[in-house]
Amino acid sequence: MTERLKKLCALLDKCDRFVDVGCDHGYCTKYMLDSGLCNRAVIADVSAKSLSKAEKLLAEYVSAGRCASVCCDGLESIDRGDDLVLIAGMGGEEILKIIKSAYIPHSFVFQPMKNAPELREYLLESGCAIDYDGLFTETRAGLVKNYFAIKGRAGGKTARPYTAAELAYGRDSLGTPELEALLNYELTKNLAYAQGGLSPQSRAEVESRIQFIKGVLNGETV
Ligand SMILES: C[S@@+](CC[C@H](N)C(=O)[O-])C[C@H]1O[C@@H](n2cnc3c(N)ncnc32)[C@H](O)[C@@H]1O
Repeated sequence: MTERLKKLCALLDKCDRFVDVGCDHGYCTKYMLDSGLCNRAVIADVSAKSLSKAEKLLAEYVSAGRCASVCCDGLESIDRGDDLVLIAGMGGEEILKIIKSAYIPHSFVFQPMKNAPELREYLLESGCAIDYDGLFTETRAGLVKNYFAIKGRAGGKTARPYTAAELAYGRDSLGTPELEALLNYELTKNLAYAQGGLSPQSRAEVESRIQFIKGVLNGETV
């Protein structure tokens, strides 16, 4: 398993049925079943080719009746239950499309590759309890990759509204060295943009992004 998958799996709690939407290789489901963290599992993917990789990896569990395999778009063929649903490694827009066209799972871990703020906003507006909303990193070939992960429950309601900084970067990321490194990287990039020839509108956007990043770095709630 890659460092990303190990860190992702560490966020998964014990449950009865574990559902891995967009499972691809199926490693997360194997981790859940091997560790006894779930009694049964569903591997699902919109691509039959991707799903066949997970089916191969989990063949013993499938033949023992502990793992069901479903080729479908998102949650469309997965009945709603007291499940833990993982949707990882796809864009936040795609995760939003999946939950908007079906339902917000009872318990979930989402790991969007981009558009995390839009996903957070929707989950909060929909009255979800967010138990963890942070950032983890993976170092690959000397490069640090950042991943946001959001863990929560439908209908539990988060205690207080998010600040703009929490909405942008995740409530539990603030003040961490991982976020500080990411913000410094973004700040350097935006300061370089600001040196270039920009339209007045682009310049205003870049300047406002710079101020926002500086505010988050200084621990302001912005
Ligand atoms: C990059 S892989 C991520 C695999 C794994 N979840 C992970 O985090 O490593 C994305 C997978 O999601 C699947 N996928 C994309 N959109 C989907 C959708 N709407 N419903 C189900 N699976 C989807 C793709 O076919 C692909 O296998």
